[in-house]
Amino acid sequence: MARMWLSAAVALLAMATSAQAGELTVTATLKADQPGAPISRYLYGQFSEHLGAGIYDGVWVGPDSKIPNVRGVRTDVVTALKAIKVPVIRWPGGCFADEYHWRDGIGDRAKRPSRKNNWWGGSPETNAFGTHEFMDFAEQVGADPYVSVNVGSSNPTEMREWIEYMTSPGQDTLAQERRANGRDKPFKVPFFGIGNESWGCGGEMTPEYYSNEYNRFVSFFHKNADNSAQRVASGANAFDTHWTDVVTASAGKSMDAISLHYYTIPTGDWGKKGSATGFDKAAWGKTFAQTLRMEDLLRQQIAVLDKNDPTKRIGLFVDEWGTWYDVEPGSNPGHLYQQNTLRDGVLAAVNFNIFHGHADRVRMTNIAQTINVLQAMILTKGDQIVLTPTYYAYQMYMPFQDSTAIPLEVQAPKIDVAGTTIPAFNASAAKGKDGKIYVAVANMSPDDKVALSVSLGELKAKTVTGQVLTADKMDAVNAFGAKPAVAPAAFKGAKLAGGKLVLDIPAKSVVVVALD
Ligand code: AHR
Repeated sequence: MARMWLSAAVALLAMATSAQAGELTVTATLKADQPGAPISRYLYGQFSEHLGAGIYDGVWVGPDSKIPNVRGVRTDVVTALKAIKVPVIRWPGGCFADEYHWRDGIGDRAKRPSRKNNWWGGSPETNAFGTHEFMDFAEQVGADPYVSVNVGSSNPTEMREWIEYMTSPGQDTLAQERRANGRDKPFKVPFFGIGNESWGCGGEMTPEYYSNEYNRFVSFFHKNADNSAQRVASGANAFDTHWTDVVTASAGKSMDAISLHYYTIPTGDWGKKGSATGFDKAAWGKTFAQTLRMEDLLRQQIAVLDKNDPTKRIGLFVDEWGTWYDVEPGSNPGHLYQQNTLRDGVLAAVNFNIFHGHADRVRMTNIAQTINVLQAMILTKGDQIVLTPTYYAYQMYMPFQDSTAIPLEVQAPKIDVAGTTIPAFNASAAKGKDGKIYVAVANMSPDDKVALSVSLGELKAKTVTGQVLTADKMDAVNAFGAKPAVAPAAFKGAKLAGGKLVLDIPAKSVVVVALD
């Protein structure tokens, strides 16, 4: 019997038996008595870059806008992000970070310099949204800030001074300048990224060169009572394990985490990535095949980390991931605006299930990007917003924040989706902070329902409740001004009987149930 790990928290055992076309019957076993790694809330993090309408229009409308705002930050967006308990927001980039000079974004907004956003369409960067505005945004949402510093086109002094400006409680000139700009108490910044994609837009460095740069920068990164932040090294481009090996071997001692970036491109071809909407089953199958590579990718990168850091001190932060399609026709190609369909919602859940399985090493992930860019949670148009299917996947998985992984032994049958073979579903389970057991299933089959029977072992559950995310069409979207076509609904397909949880999971769906 071929075996496939759905996740490290998801051990394997059960045999799939296909009852009839269109319905897959699968058995599984939950091992609630064998808790695994903590699943950090930071696995549900966000990434917001100065890119297209990600910040301007998406977050920042300015205090004089007719769009309801608090100190210039959109109220509707803050309300929506608070509702999914966003734990951390990475900012200001991305590629933008390695050209960003923090002094451009402080002080009187009317006097801030205007720059060209060279990475993203050459658009004007007014710097109206800078350090204080970002911190205000994060505080309004209730998220921790994760600040990426400029390594590629700057120096350690600029980094050190920015950190002191933000975090110093003293009477030094930088702290006084922060006060003069309206913030008395130091900002709390628990995470700093030391460069971004330093192998690419962050300076085209070799891993050896970057390791030297990293060591040079962190020599002036004073980790102390004022600044206890985690230092995150710029990590690999997807499967480049050589980068991870060199950087952690030569600079691992002084890092708390290393990042990893992997984007899901349906075709695997950056030149013609595929459309966000109007796709066929072949594209659906290929998209999931590409996203499932995350499992292999994590295994390969973690193997290298386990070699260089056997005590697992260094966290792996997947601080950019998600779908990347051809831009919405008619939109600025440099602004990376794309629609978000049911496919994106299911795909987000597939990745969550994978991350849960590696939670002992993967301690943060940040989807790219929060608003109006790539696989967004929210799209805006003037004073309107829509919450995307991806947003709702985050909402359904909220109980997994700061939970404990529980092994779920299951083997998903392989299915053929218009020429691509993928497992029909993946799944994960955890014990939530509220003591309930949560089981999540992402059904990747566009056609097959899954009848999943889970043996609960010693677990005595009395009730099961849950939610399902699905729609009639694979590319259903949530449109402005209309009732959402893809939103969680009460799940009626769960029952408890004879020590088993039985789930009737619709095709192309996400199901999360709570056992009490
Ligand atoms: O998320 C868009 C871009 O993708 C980021 O700026 C960069 O880090 C990555 O290549």
